[in-house]
Amino acid sequence: MGINSGADIDVAELFESHETERFGLHSRHLNEQMVRVLRTIGYDVGFCKGRGQYLYDRDGNRYLDMLSGFGVFALGRNHPAIRAALKSVLDADLPNLVQMDVSTLAGLLAERLLARVPHLDKVFFANSGAESVEAAIKFARAATGRSGIAYCSHAFHGLTYGALSLNGDETFRRGFEPLLPDCVCVPFNDLAALDRALSSRRMAAFVVEPIQGKGVILPDDDYLKGVQDLCRRYETLFIADEIQTGIGRTGKFLAGEHWDIEPDMVLLAKALSGGHVPVGAVLTRKWIYDKVFNRMDRAVVHGSTFSKNDLAMAAGIATLEVLKAERVVENAARTGERLIRELATLADNYELLKEVRGKGLMIGIEFGMPTSLKLKASWTMLETASKGLFCQLITIPLFKEHKILTQVAGHGSHTIKLIPPLTLTDEDCDWIVRAFDDVIADSHRMGAVWSLGKTLVQHAVRASA
Ligand SMILES: Cc1ncc(COP(=O)(O)O)c(C=O)c1O
Repeated sequence: MGINSGADIDVAELFESHETERFGLHSRHLNEQMVRVLRTIGYDVGFCKGRGQYLYDRDGNRYLDMLSGFGVFALGRNHPAIRAALKSVLDADLPNLVQMDVSTLAGLLAERLLARVPHLDKVFFANSGAESVEAAIKFARAATGRSGIAYCSHAFHGLTYGALSLNGDETFRRGFEPLLPDCVCVPFNDLAALDRALSSRRMAAFVVEPIQGKGVILPDDDYLKGVQDLCRRYETLFIADEIQTGIGRTGKFLAGEHWDIEPDMVLLAKALSGGHVPVGAVLTRKWIYDKVFNRMDRAVVHGSTFSKNDLAMAAGIATLEVLKAERVVENAARTGERLIRELATLADNYELLKEVRGKGLMIGIEFGMPTSLKLKASWTMLETASKGLFCQLITIPLFKEHKILTQVAGHGSHTIKLIPPLTLTDEDCDWIVRAFDDVIADSHRMGAVWSLGKTLVQHAVRASA
């Protein structure tokens, strides 16, 4: 088909002429509850443009995106180098997804990923984070001949059945059981509990996020090394889910580098996409790979039609290039350290602010029960209506008054999580610290945020009625 086939679509024009219909379209054809949520909390501003770490609404207002699509936009939105790489794929008439051939671009991306993680030898590509987790579970069972998978309380590894079976949050699991058998939950940061779980020698693998995304929970200094030792002792595979923490997020290429660990598998996705093309990767040892793909008639025993597609592979290759050329990981380390330090000093002034923690640009800001009587009463009212509601009193004014998009770090959590693009500037850091200072100060003055609290309580009561 040529350019004038009549089927050519100008997507920019399509978007522009229909973007005001988005909520109606979603209410009718997709997830109506999501539309209700956005309207209730006033996030229905209608974003029309994304560039770098900024989003722009219909009226041209600029927002700072501290959510980055759940960690996808490490390089920001629409990075010119990623876009150019993808355009070059589209213009090249490449022999994509032949299936009865092997992909050159996949070979190159695998080689470059392994150069960043030299203790591993092989890569398996998938289409998402959850698909990488599914592959890891299958590989672990095939390689060890054991069925058990150990995982952590509060863990999040995705929402497909295998990944959901390793989810430490009841809210996600409820209504979908039965899940995968032989999955065992152990508390995070508890080596004695892990020892007990692995000593049965029935665990094929222990799957863990080096820093837990839900709640932004950091490992104790000796935890991950201890995990590695226990896994070696009981011949259980050590699988690091770096889907969120990997590709520079924590100020190192992998978060595991902070603690000098060498897991048997490292899972990547999110940021590897360059923010454009879904992709997942399982980096692993040769002997594990060889147990799965052990004969010619098993050459396709695990895989997926679209994995290794040229656009995804090119996005991954370009992402690694940009990371190096623009010293993105170093920037994440520097701006993250600055943000954590400056936000932490706010805790001295505000009794509701309990702790600021994190590594690089994965930051948790935790609130908790105040000491003064007046604030205590309001806090308790919110908590009784819905656990974790207080954080909305911070995130909503951050969004409305200061144009900063953040998230609460999980169901019932008192922690606000920041996972911005790693290209954050000093000016952005100033913006964030000023905004948090202002909103938290207001919450201590019993200001406007508490009347918002009353509205949220009414919504919470109505929702549970
Ligand atoms: C640590 C971790 N693992 C796995 C996943 C699942 O990735 P996906 O949503 O691409 O399936 C996520 C997504 O948030 C994650 O944070």
